Amino acid sequence: TINPSISSLFRHKTHAGNHLRRINSGLWKLKAVVMGEAVASGDDQLIFPNHDFAQQAHVPNFQTYLEMYKRSIGDPAGFWSEMASEFYWKKKWGQQVFSENLDITKGDVNIQWFKGGITNICYNCLDRNIELGNGDKIAIHWEGNEPGVDDSLTYNQLLERVSQLANYLKENGVKKGDSVIIYLPMLMELPISMLACARIGAVHSVVFAGFSAESLEQRILDCKPKIVITCNAIKRGTKVINLKDIVDSALSESSQNGVNVGLCLTYANESAMKREVTKWQEERDVWWQDVVPKHSTKCDVEWVDGEDPLFLLYTSGSTGKPKGVLHTTGGYMIYTAATFKYAFDYKPSDIYWCTADCGWITGHSYVAYGPLLNGATVLVYEGVPNYPNPGRCWDIVDKYKVTIFYTAPTLVRSLMRDGNEYVTRYSRKSLRVLGSVGEPINPSAWRWFYNVVGDSRCPISDTWWQTETGGFMITPLPGAWPQKPGSATFPFFGVQPVIVDEKGKELEGECSGYLCVKASWPGAFRTLFGDHERYETTYFSAFPGYYFSGDGCSRDKDGYYWLTGRVDDVINVSGHRIGTAEVESALVLHPKCAEAAVVGIDHEVKGQCIYAFVTPVEGVEYSDDLKKSLVLSVRTNIGAFAAPEKIHWAPGLPKTRSGKIMRRILRKIASRQLDELGDISTLADPNVVDQLIALADS
Ligand code: WT7
Repeated sequence: TINPSISSLFRHKTHAGNHLRRINSGLWKLKAVVMGEAVASGDDQLIFPNHDFAQQAHVPNFQTYLEMYKRSIGDPAGFWSEMASEFYWKKKWGQQVFSENLDITKGDVNIQWFKGGITNICYNCLDRNIELGNGDKIAIHWEGNEPGVDDSLTYNQLLERVSQLANYLKENGVKKGDSVIIYLPMLMELPISMLACARIGAVHSVVFAGFSAESLEQRILDCKPKIVITCNAIKRGTKVINLKDIVDSALSESSQNGVNVGLCLTYANESAMKREVTKWQEERDVWWQDVVPKHSTKCDVEWVDGEDPLFLLYTSGSTGKPKGVLHTTGGYMIYTAATFKYAFDYKPSDIYWCTADCGWITGHSYVAYGPLLNGATVLVYEGVPNYPNPGRCWDIVDKYKVTIFYTAPTLVRSLMRDGNEYVTRYSRKSLRVLGSVGEPINPSAWRWFYNVVGDSRCPISDTWWQTETGGFMITPLPGAWPQKPGSATFPFFGVQPVIVDEKGKELEGECSGYLCVKASWPGAFRTLFGDHERYETTYFSAFPGYYFSGDGCSRDKDGYYWLTGRVDDVINVSGHRIGTAEVESALVLHPKCAEAAVVGIDHEVKGQCIYAFVTPVEGVEYSDDLKKSLVLSVRTNIGAFAAPEKIHWAPGLPKTRSGKIMRRILRKIASRQLDELGDISTLADPNVVDQLIALADS
């Protein structure tokens, strides 16, 4: 249950005098706090929702939340059945709404929700909303890379486009359960492709279009898709990227390694590059525009079980091989729909923009499924946030009258650096809710987002969740309670976060430790594709009985949760999750690299950045050219977003006598906290530390 110390909030006093009030029966009087005036420091600062906002919110106060939350924990089956009843089920789920075993000591880990229920998520996103009378409502506004280039689709039109592609896929032998890799940028064709797969029961696996040929090949080899959907080229800012070349190389490599994909459906993105200049393999490649529009705009739905797979999404872990996170249909559908509605206080009149790419989980749950299930109008933006200048986001907000704007702290920090004038020259009056995701948002970025972007008017939903959780886990419900800059605040309905110590002991009250979750929730992932054992060991064995998130967390005296970052070997660069082991393998692939060790250090804009210690092979000289080609090795093996910020030459690495690299020491050297190196006497060769320090600036 929720931390009882929340009651201390009611007694809370700050210097912000007239803005903070307690009222009867321990409920808050909701009064706006003008930011500058709230002078209490650190986590003591409460930002109260404004009265008018709270009054119209789905969850208007803390008591309503508590009642709903208690019910969601006390009667999960009843609570989630009710949520699920808002959607179309061809057949209702069985007697048991869910079944679970999270305790590895009691047998295989197993989570099921709505098993036996027959439904389809594409039907619920499109057909159902059309039946409700929203056929002519805009489903997607698309804004191109170049200002002035745009497009839109109503729910009716989106269904037609999705159906045409679904028919094409069926005609080409894609059946229920088959996987399809989608390697596309933020064109409308990306969500269209996802929905078309879902319509026919195929399992989509979207690969972020910033991944390299090697990464794409790795994913092709793992999930053996029937078809790859891509486009010829993309334009991001002023840069043109030839996507098809990357796909060609991935497809030819993977066919040499035993997986031959016979069909590559290629959307001709002529705004970036003319078709004629695209390299082509007649027997394998097909232009989307030549075949898809010829198909019928009606396509029957493939009805699937609530537990049938919906998609695979690869993510990084502590070891080299990416993990195929598998989500199933029913629970994911209900969970993304409910979290979207409550955490953004979504209303049918909203215009919603999430800046994430559909290549990441945020784009799956909160560009595509969550909003469309709610019948929302979604903005899809092709380009980069600072092109042609750092005012672009607010230009787009004004152009479409965006009401809910969901982004990442790294973007907030980068726009903050560009100066307020880029923001204030736009109206932004339409905005009413802001959102943040991907990493902890530092309080100063939070304040800037709140004060400057939101004119101290819009609550910020700082949503903590993960690829694995499918949807929001800890998040403010705007209007329901006061916020603290930098805290994700309280758990969503049905979520029981626990903070444990190293021994797995649940900590009470004010504490810090490892963030786990007790009991399942509908949006939880069900397995790692093809490797259930890795699923169990990675997430359920560290602290038996719990799902372990990999994040550190503390809870303050008021019960607010504060995420503190990863505690495993995962680095979070601009909200992108990168495994240290992955980067190390990419470096070691370089013929002149003998050994590499990678750590994450703080970065002003990116949150964290990648810092690599490299030992060249015997006889190779340190040089800037070698540094460049080492970085290139990471770019080509993973993708540009994983490129190390710094290469630090290492004659040797600090290792224990048993050969384990002591990353703690490397992190201190990398962040130049040389007086905090700690005990180095357990090193096999303590001299390496001095050598590394001496080479710090070379
Ligand atoms: C990791 C998950 C969930 C969508 C984007 C990233 C970090 C995410 C927050 C937040 C603090 C956050 C965590 C988490 N993270 N959101 N609001 N506050 N940390 O998904 O790639 O699966 O990464 O991102 O460390 O474990 P992902």
